[in-house]
Amino acid sequence: MMSHPSRQGLPETAGGRLPLVEFVEKPGVIDLAWGHPDPDLLAVDELANLAGTTLRRFGPEALTYGAPAGPGPLIEAVVDRLGRTDSRPPRPDEICITGGVSAALEQCAKLLAEPGQVILVEAPTYHFALQILASHPLEICPLPFDSGGLVVETLPDTLARIRASGRKVGFLYTIPNFHNPTGLTLTTERRRALLELAEAEDLLLVEDDVYRELSFDGPAPPSLWSLAPPGRVVRLGSFAKSLAPGLRVGYLTADRPLTRKFSGQPWLHSGGAPSHLPSLLVATCMVEGMYQANVRRLQAAYRQRRAALLESLQAEMPQGTTWTRPAGGYFTWVTLPAGDTRKLLAAVQKAGSGYIPGITFLPRECSEARGPLAEQAPRSFRLAWSRYSPENLRESVRRMGEVLRG
Ligand SMILES: Cc1ncc(COP(=O)(O)O)c(C=O)c1O
Repeated sequence: MMSHPSRQGLPETAGGRLPLVEFVEKPGVIDLAWGHPDPDLLAVDELANLAGTTLRRFGPEALTYGAPAGPGPLIEAVVDRLGRTDSRPPRPDEICITGGVSAALEQCAKLLAEPGQVILVEAPTYHFALQILASHPLEICPLPFDSGGLVVETLPDTLARIRASGRKVGFLYTIPNFHNPTGLTLTTERRRALLELAEAEDLLLVEDDVYRELSFDGPAPPSLWSLAPPGRVVRLGSFAKSLAPGLRVGYLTADRPLTRKFSGQPWLHSGGAPSHLPSLLVATCMVEGMYQANVRRLQAAYRQRRAALLESLQAEMPQGTTWTRPAGGYFTWVTLPAGDTRKLLAAVQKAGSGYIPGITFLPRECSEARGPLAEQAPRSFRLAWSRYSPENLRESVRRMGEVLRG
């Protein structure tokens, strides 16, 4: 990655040996494995200006310990935004500002489940969420997933089996919108069925809504949280995809007893809410209208990239290959007619391209019914259109196709 002009003249970190960022581009490689934003789409100059505005506007209050539930100006801005992009706005006391979805999920694992309890997940699901959950003394149980999202019909049987064996369920983690890794969206009927079932079974849902703003073909569906009775859903949102992941700012919406549980944690009383200054910067972006314009700009850019990626798959993939046509987010899920995508990866990388093999997104414990997408996973892979220009996406898929066509 080229350094931004503002970094020029600064010494490289410890002679360039200590990493500055998570993903370091390899020269000549167009790796579609990583779900990171294109550096050219990050609004460096606008954020630099608004960071100055934020510090001048809030003065020392921007630099001290923040309120445990997050700073009021961002909570108010989130109320306003969700009033426009979801089917009901939260009340201010139904919001906690977080350090992003990853940090919030870590808190969910700690606060919403007892050691030894079962966490239900989609198979496939976001691989780092699996790692976060697996770093706690919890048992992970995969649920079947198909082109309509989580297969809700099998859930009562799974719950009955778990309970009959004397185990308890902590919560179900789901990504209903523009799912990672498949890009698929939970159908309206299944949203209703899932909420009815959750109510009947007294099941808590943790809804990962990280891609809500990246909806390309009209508004994103209403969140489960907005459709559910109080106490049934904790929805995790983030500004990582809609503004910048480096800010480490997100939010959760839940009913008051749950938000109090999150904001009442001693570490927040000791240190204040995470990312206080970046939270105020996000609030400024929203109040000034920059955030809304940025979302529109990202939607347009990613819509174009989705088209470039899907068109080049049509041109380059072996006959019999299928892929999802997501209505938003970062990813498509590609399934070859045959082959092992873990074994094929080395040759694809050698050709200067890359993907994540489907199997990466399955929990190890696949004893329960697995469903169609999990069964395809060994011959599937995830591609991200987020990181590269349409031209680079086409070139990467061309390289990949040459290898995969054999
Ligand atoms: C489904 C899902 N959840 C969470 C995250 C991470 O969110 P955050 O950057 O807010 O921690 C990602 C990023 O790739 C994701 O795809």
